[in-house]
Amino acid sequence: MYLYPKWIRLWHVINAVLFIVLIVTGVSMQYTDKDQAALIVGFAKAVKWHNFAAVILTVNYIIFVAGNLFTNNGRQYNIKRKNFVSDLMTQLKYYAFGMFKGEKHPFPVTENRKFNPLQKFSYVLAMYVAVPLVIISGIGLLFPEITVKAVFGISGLILTDILHITMGFFLSVFMVIHIYTCTLGSKPTSLFRGMITGYHVSDDH
Ligand code: HEM
Repeated sequence: MYLYPKWIRLWHVINAVLFIVLIVTGVSMQYTDKDQAALIVGFAKAVKWHNFAAVILTVNYIIFVAGNLFTNNGRQYNIKRKNFVSDLMTQLKYYAFGMFKGEKHPFPVTENRKFNPLQKFSYVLAMYVAVPLVIISGIGLLFPEITVKAVFGISGLILTDILHITMGFFLSVFMVIHIYTCTLGSKPTSLFRGMITGYHVSDDH
């Protein structure tokens, strides 16, 4: 089944590499003072690379949204309210118990449904909530002069920073869980192979 068109594969590999750069430089900045020894990358270098990667990530994100708006891939992200919670629970039960007992995937992949309910929910949350928030708060930190001065007496810059760090943390956790769930195809490597070739090879996931 051809599920991953070229543009989504290109978007994804650029996004994944940039995420790694942003996490390494972000953690470096968080734990390295201007005069302290570098944690992973020196402070000034971390700022420079973080800003550079963030600008490319933003452009790449616009391509992701446009691609999903103008191609059929966007339909894969539509969450239907009917049975939403019960489907999510079925998938969770499968990941927690069923798969260890050799049960079949409850939502096998088809061309119209390449994501299971949990994947869909986490992709929508990451791509349409967390990434936009991390980008908007990042812009606010890059251009402090445009950021709201204070909200109920609390510095707008600090609130923006908290939002940025929280979303960055959430996305880092997402990435770890995402990579783990990508090993749960018919073979541990099959989903990774699919993201490289474009073809999903399996009849049970
Ligand atoms: C080294 C890091 C990463 C690896 C190895 C990886 C691996 C994969 C694989 C194998 C798939 C295809 C299976 C599936 O559809 O679920 C996939 C899809 C996807 N990944 Fe990742 N991923 C990484 C990082 C990320 C990051 C950082 C994000 C977003 C913040 C992300 C978002 C997505 C999305 C939205 C899809 C579905 C794309 C589509 O088909 O429309 N991934 N990833």
